[in-house]
Amino acid sequence: MIAHVNGHDLYYVTRGRGEPLLFAHGFPLTGEMWNPIVERLSNGWTCIVPDLRGHGRSAISDDVSMADFADDLAGLLDAIGERRAVAFVGLSMGGYIAFEFFRRHRRRLRALVLADTRSSADTPEARAKREVLAAAVLKDGSKSAADGMIGTLFGPAASPELKAHWRAIMSLNPPRGVAAALRAMATRSNSTDLLARIDCPTLAIVGAHDAITTPDVMKDMHARIPGAALRVIAGAGHMAPVEQPDSFTDALRQFFEKLRQ
Ligand code: MLT
Repeated sequence: MIAHVNGHDLYYVTRGRGEPLLFAHGFPLTGEMWNPIVERLSNGWTCIVPDLRGHGRSAISDDVSMADFADDLAGLLDAIGERRAVAFVGLSMGGYIAFEFFRRHRRRLRALVLADTRSSADTPEARAKREVLAAAVLKDGSKSAADGMIGTLFGPAASPELKAHWRAIMSLNPPRGVAAALRAMATRSNSTDLLARIDCPTLAIVGAHDAITTPDVMKDMHARIPGAALRVIAGAGHMAPVEQPDSFTDALRQFFEKLRQ
C-alpha cells in the first residue's frame, strides 16, 4: 500500500489485529527484514511496516534527516487512521529514528524496542567515512554499501543463502536514497543524554555476536534507561530478527504481553 506523507509516497504493509506495533528497519534495508517477526506476531498485534523514505518501494528524497524519518512515521499513522499509541520497534538506524520519534512524538508512543542500535552520534571519523561511502554509492551503485557491510552484519551461524539474499536487497535500494540515509546518520544527534528521560516501557535487544552495535554498547545503553529490560539473542549478529526469528519474537512477545497486564 502507498500513503502520501509529508509530500512523499511511502510504501507500507499492515498485518494482523490487536495493539499497534510500528517497525522501522535498519540501513540500507527494507521493511521486508521484519517479515519473519510479523508472521509470528500478527495473530495478536497489528504490525505496521513501512519502507523508509528512499528505501525499497518508497519515494526518494536527496535530503533527509532522522527527524524527517520520524515525522514520516507519525504521518503514516495519521494517514492510516491509527490513533492509538504504538510500540515502536527500531533496529539500528531504525533505533536512531526511535529516539527522534520519542523527542518529537512522545504522546504517540506506548513503548520502545531498541534493537541492535546505539544512542551515541557518529565520531568525526565515522562521519567522514559515511561521506566517502555516499559518494561511492552515487557513483557505483548501492552494491558498494552492501559489499562493505555484508561481512559485519551477520553472526557466525548465518547461512551463505541468508547473506546472499540480504546483500541483493541492499544492492537494489536506490543509490540516491542510500546516500541520503548515510548523510542523515552522519548528522544525527547524540541521544545518550535522552536515555535517562525515557519514560515509557523499553526493551533493549541485541544479537550476542553483533559486531556493529555490540552487546557491551547495548548493555551500557540499557543501564541508562529507567526500568528498561534487556535481552541478548544467542546465535545472532546485527540482523537478529532474520537470523534468529523465533528467539527475537519470543523476546518481543514477552515484553508486549507484559504491557497488557
Ligand atoms: C544499520 O544497520 O542501520 C546500520 O549499521 C547503522 C549504522 O551504520 O550506523
